[in-house]
Amino acid sequence: MTRMLEKRTIFITGSGGVLGTTYVRNMLASGAQVVATDLPGARGEALKSEFADNDNFVYYDLDVGDEDQIKEIFKRVAADGYAPNVVLNNAAITGELLMGAGKSFPDFANTSLEDWEKTIKINLTGAFLIARQMDIDIVGKYPAALINVASMYALNGPHHDIYKDMPFKSFSAYSSTKAGIHGLTLWLAGYWAARGSTVNTIAPGAVYNDHSDEFQNRVGKLIMAGRMAEPKEIADVMLFLCSEGAGYMTGQMVNVDGGFSGW
Ligand SMILES: NC(=O)c1ccc[n+]([C@@H]2O[C@H](COP(=O)([O-])OP(=O)(O)OC[C@H]3O[C@@H](n4cnc5c(N)ncnc54)[C@H](O)[C@@H]3O)[C@@H](O)[C@H]2O)c1
Repeated sequence: MTRMLEKRTIFITGSGGVLGTTYVRNMLASGAQVVATDLPGARGEALKSEFADNDNFVYYDLDVGDEDQIKEIFKRVAADGYAPNVVLNNAAITGELLMGAGKSFPDFANTSLEDWEKTIKINLTGAFLIARQMDIDIVGKYPAALINVASMYALNGPHHDIYKDMPFKSFSAYSSTKAGIHGLTLWLAGYWAARGSTVNTIAPGAVYNDHSDEFQNRVGKLIMAGRMAEPKEIADVMLFLCSEGAGYMTGQMVNVDGGFSGW
């Protein structure tokens, strides 16, 4: 692999998940300095044990739902000698996360306000808080890139039938936050352009993570490529978005979904 990220210091939220871990591995292999963050707990510990021996890896606990922690994070990172020129808003409450926590997926009519608000708080407000702090601590000091993470369910609705009898479902707050995060991208891209920073959205498709054959068949029929993505197929596009080569790209949504959104 070419070391296309040698001059990049990449700050990532929620980096211990299915995609986050793959991003970290791929970015380190491409020569980036990675500043990984996640909630305290097993995911962060697993990241540290996998990458602790790599001099280009550093880890901080960070809850994107906590405004006070976010206000301090880039100052802490700078005090330790790191100057992120790429920030990746990757943390989210996802279906995978809820399924792993044993949560149910109620019908829309039974969706609680609490669950709705929590998803908005982490997936959308968390991204806003990170972007606001980037505006304060980074933007204008040197060229930088913000990458917001949406989903194939941001600007396209789910085919609800494919979730029948599955242990997980798509949920309304998730889609709403993923559409909203692209609104943040569009608003900020023009706002930051004169200060030399770019903002783009990546919209991953359905990523394989031990899904049943039945689910793979159902979702595969909706995807031009006919199958779910491997995490690395998303991570390789992420490498380009993090690279200097993406410097003239701003205000865009990049769909990496095997053609799901292209029919
Ligand atoms: N996997 C997919 O199929 C897929 C598809 C489209 C979009 N995405 C998006 O990609 C991103 C990564 O997804 P993933 O598949 O790795 O999900 P995942 O559920 O495996 O990981 C999500 C990560 O976010 C972290 N997180 C949750 N709440 C947090 C908080 N309050 N503060 C900090 N971190 C928090 C979790 O600890 C976890 O490490 C998410 O934004 C997700 O919505 C994933």
